[in-house]
Amino acid sequence: MNKIVAGIIDKAKTLRKTIVLAEGEEPRTVRAAEIISKNGIADIILLGNREKIAAIYPDVDLSLVRIVDPLAEDIEDFANEYYELRKAKGMTLEEARVQMRKYLNFGAMMIRKGMADGMVAGAINSTGNVLRAGLQIVKTKPGIKTVSSCFIMCFDGTYYKDRDIMIFGDCAVNIDPTAEQLADIAISSVASARSLAGIEDPRVAMLSFSTKGSAKHANVDKVVAATELVRQRAPELPVDGELQLDAAIVPTVAMLKAPGSEVAGKANILIFPDLQSGNIGYKLTQRFSGATAIGPICQGFAKPVNDLSRGCTSDDIVAVVAMTAVQASQN
Ligand code: ACO
Repeated sequence: MNKIVAGIIDKAKTLRKTIVLAEGEEPRTVRAAEIISKNGIADIILLGNREKIAAIYPDVDLSLVRIVDPLAEDIEDFANEYYELRKAKGMTLEEARVQMRKYLNFGAMMIRKGMADGMVAGAINSTGNVLRAGLQIVKTKPGIKTVSSCFIMCFDGTYYKDRDIMIFGDCAVNIDPTAEQLADIAISSVASARSLAGIEDPRVAMLSFSTKGSAKHANVDKVVAATELVRQRAPELPVDGELQLDAAIVPTVAMLKAPGSEVAGKANILIFPDLQSGNIGYKLTQRFSGATAIGPICQGFAKPVNDLSRGCTSDDIVAVVAMTAVQASQN
């Protein structure tokens, strides 16, 4: 097992957070619930029908797992809360009742109401549907307006011995972030770096195809403005931009292109200017270097919601639940 993931699982065991698995009738999720509960990684609430779940794995031991059936529960309180949240958008109480019977919405409302600390789903639901339940019901944490994501990239030390762990953000959520959203992505990525990857000395590079004015374009201006916003919001944080990737991570290039920068050449948090570059960037890195990419990890929610890959295994679900528990302890 990857050492970062192992560390996160160990940390989760000390926290004993309550995590909702919203796809409780899905086989990999049921098996993960058993592993998590038996190993004391978190307290699990499985959403689903007890008989259906028992039929999936007759031998599964869910004695330590709480099963809640959104189709059988009294959802009036949840529906009223959802109606209040969405009435300005045209939501009716009748429609709110329908929405609260949906497992993702029900799970998100459980965490909003403090009945659980976080939610994990996505083994059978699309990223968009998982995120939308979180965006509409859980909302963002104070001081952050943008939900985003990051990857923990784990390298073998071939190139940069001082940076075998780096954070890449946002590679999965915001398609064309504004300068304000990019600043949120940077600040949330620093929080994830500290809490999940154990990075104590974050150095943030705001990436572009330009370094320090070498090119002129509105896309470059956006990165410059975002860098300034991060500086204003976190004056003590080492951040620099706009930087090209090589200027951000290669010391010799940094000396030429961004002399005097406290970040250039030694960045360990890379903030991509948009989703095209971020998503392509993390996959290129992963495929060419053999780096392990842990994520996407959602960040910025008032209480953590995390999305799974639809190809996930039970072990992947265990890891994401542990990560969600650790994030919950930071809220
Ligand atoms: N942060 C905070 N709030 C947001 C965000 C955000 N990033 N995005 C949307 N919202 C708000 C909206 O303003 C809206 O609020 P409201 O309903 O109160 O007015 C609410 O959340 C729901 O928004 P929608 O418009 O329903 O959602 P949207 O269509 O914007 O979808 C989504 C959001 C799903 C995250 C979208 O941005 C998306 O599809 N992103 C790309 C995901 C993707 O395909 N990633 C690549 C694959 S992942 C991988 O390769 C690892």
